[in-house]
Amino acid sequence: MVSIESSREQWGSKIGFILAAAGGAIGLGNIWKFPYVMGQNGGAAFIAVYLLCVLIIGLPILIAEVLMGRTAQRNPVGTFKALTKNKMWRAVGGMGVVAGFVILSFYGVVAGWSFGYIIEAIKGSFFDYATPSAAGEHFNELTQNVYWITGLLGLFMGLTMMIVYFGINKGIERGSKIMMPVLFVLLLIMMFKGLSLEGAEEGLEFLFIPNWSKLTGLSVLEALGHAFFTLSLGMGAMMTYGSYMSKKDNVITASAQIVALDTLIALVAGVAILTAIFSTGQNPAEGPGLIFHTLPIVFTKMTGGYIFSIIFFILLSLAALTSSISLLEVVTSYFVDEKGMQRHKAVLLFGTVAFLCGVPSALSFNILSDTKIFGLNFFDLANFLASNIFLPLGGLFISIFVAYVWGFDKALIELKKGAEEIFEKRFWEIKFWKIVIKYFCPVLIFLVLLHSIGVLTMIINLFQ
Ligand code: PFF
Repeated sequence: MVSIESSREQWGSKIGFILAAAGGAIGLGNIWKFPYVMGQNGGAAFIAVYLLCVLIIGLPILIAEVLMGRTAQRNPVGTFKALTKNKMWRAVGGMGVVAGFVILSFYGVVAGWSFGYIIEAIKGSFFDYATPSAAGEHFNELTQNVYWITGLLGLFMGLTMMIVYFGINKGIERGSKIMMPVLFVLLLIMMFKGLSLEGAEEGLEFLFIPNWSKLTGLSVLEALGHAFFTLSLGMGAMMTYGSYMSKKDNVITASAQIVALDTLIALVAGVAILTAIFSTGQNPAEGPGLIFHTLPIVFTKMTGGYIFSIIFFILLSLAALTSSISLLEVVTSYFVDEKGMQRHKAVLLFGTVAFLCGVPSALSFNILSDTKIFGLNFFDLANFLASNIFLPLGGLFISIFVAYVWGFDKALIELKKGAEEIFEKRFWEIKFWKIVIKYFCPVLIFLVLLHSIGVLTMIINLFQ
């Protein structure tokens, strides 16, 4: 058995933690999911609610998660074990492990598309399908091919397993330092290209002029769910990353920097993609295939588009990989730390389980497209359950735990380590965090979850 202490490293530097955690947070959620969820929920009004959710709920919960992990220096289940004697709380860590599988099951499918699009980009296919309808049809043709979609899912899961198998330390920390800035620069270039397209103003209007009538209860639930998803909250991923953090580092500013980077990337991606959609006359509410229908067309319109398209899909795949690694790492670290499994066995076993869980999601686009559970196919169900139920529920429990079980007395002693200056000069920030964790988070998340009560009942039925 590998003991927790012997396998536990610390990030090489403060910036190492921020980049690795930002690498885990920034992924398909920012570039694939944010544009299409926002497109489906009316644009600007959704963005406003999303930003509020990120600031009022996301950031405080991120601080709480990282703090818990740093204090206990363990995996999520071990963290609850270390911080309270009450065994019930371990189930919250356990729920994170389950959520890890649920997320991997659809995340791997989309990451597989991204891998497949690297090949399409190299083949120059985008130039053969340069109109919106042709690009959409091409996407549908590819995803209807069972071998293409499951093969790429397998490839992606295989790569994720390989990296977690050999350890993620230097590779990911160093890799994130190079990849993230390149991805950002590329997105910026695409944003400017999008802005220069004819008809881009329509996209900007959609993004920045809110139409509140489009906002429904469900879109508020979506916004909160997406805030959790994009910041990797509520399932212990950030707890695990926080557990490798030094007590000399400032949890508050590090968390704020992660949130800022993640939000910025999502907004830049949003502008890049929505301007392109409106200028090419496409429908922003198209759903999960959105960026695969639209970006290829933008590439055909830009100078150097052939090369940029290859680089873009490589980077998107790598961004997905740095996030999926953090997902498999949560599952692996749990079985290694708590169940005494050897790391390589845990990785092979649970990576394979994650692949198998992903197969029904992959087949949702072809042979299982008519198989619906409560009106949703496997892919949509896993996607919905993860963001809208598991992660907010995890966040609800984490805030209740910090405020009422672990208690602020102990939490603040830990939070102060590395953040002495904030405690001295900007104590109102700490006060705000306490109030939010104690009252706002539990009440708001609970209310939003109530909205999905129908879905909750459905899940209970599902597991009975
Ligand atoms: N935050 C990742 C993204 O936006 O792509 C997705 C994710 C990774 C969610 C890890 C949860 C997680 F634990």
